[in-house]
Amino acid sequence: MTDRFDLSEKTAIVVGGAGLIGRAVTRGLLDHGATVIVADVNESAGTELVSELGENVEFAHVDSTVDEEVQATVETTVEQFGSLDVLINSAYPRNENYGREFEQVTIDDWHENVSLNLDSYFSTAKHASAVMKEQNSGGVIINFGSIYGVQAPDFTLYQGTNITSPVEYAAIKGGVLNLTRYLASYLGEYGVRVNAVSPGGVSDQQGQQFVDQYEERTPLGRMADADDITGAVVFLASDAASYVTGHNLVVDGGWSIS
Ligand SMILES: NC(=O)c1ccc[n+]([C@@H]2O[C@H](COP(=O)([O-])OP(=O)(O)OC[C@H]3O[C@@H](n4cnc5c(N)ncnc54)[C@H](O)[C@@H]3O)[C@@H](O)[C@H]2O)c1
Repeated sequence: MTDRFDLSEKTAIVVGGAGLIGRAVTRGLLDHGATVIVADVNESAGTELVSELGENVEFAHVDSTVDEEVQATVETTVEQFGSLDVLINSAYPRNENYGREFEQVTIDDWHENVSLNLDSYFSTAKHASAVMKEQNSGGVIINFGSIYGVQAPDFTLYQGTNITSPVEYAAIKGGVLNLTRYLASYLGEYGVRVNAVSPGGVSDQQGQQFVDQYEERTPLGRMADADDITGAVVFLASDAASYVTGHNLVVDGGWSIS
């Protein structure tokens, strides 16, 4: 029987592939046979990752907020590997002031952070889909959303900690999810599927108080590991999801149901 989760004929670009989730996603795609381009602005983390992972994986330096760089990365990938089958956007561009409390966010920070992120999603989808529309096999775009794109933050989780959920994030992630629906609708006739994956909080050395409060509120009783996210991405990237488009696959241990 054919393994519909098999990705061995597919070439994937993971934008933000050197990050916390991007690294796990890259490993998951490689495990299922894909050839992966780790496209990231962080050259040292990206090259270290690909040398650790070995075969069928390459690094491409790209700033995903710069349209021409995204286009060049897509075109180079197609020249080198013959197709671009999967584009995953897990980049997380932000300026040095990102993460401040609502009252401290200036209009300039708001503009910069919203536009850095949404520009990146626009450019990656635009240039990837231009290629995918022209190839007989279509393609798959997967955008990273968040539970905070579908639901408001629970600010009690941040009480007693020095972190918050930035206001820009609500606009960015709400925007990403509706952009995903727009693209799915627009690109469906070309055989290009566009979906989102929305993780809950991923464990990343947050302070103990936040972790305790987060776990208390989550039906599965823990934060996500980055590896918890990869199954959703592999599924959506594969032919097993051949009739799935415009979907937001929430991977949050049940956080958003309560
Ligand atoms: N970590 C979480 O708890 C969590 C939860 C929900 C959603 N998400 C979403 O998942 C995605 C990945 O998050 P993460 O936690 O892995 O973030 P991260 O900061 O660990 O990784 C992001 C990666 O993007 C790269 N990057 C930043 N700016 C870039 C640019 N201009 N061009 C190219 N690459 C750039 C960084 O170098 C980094 O490798 C984001 O969209 C984030 O909003 C994360």
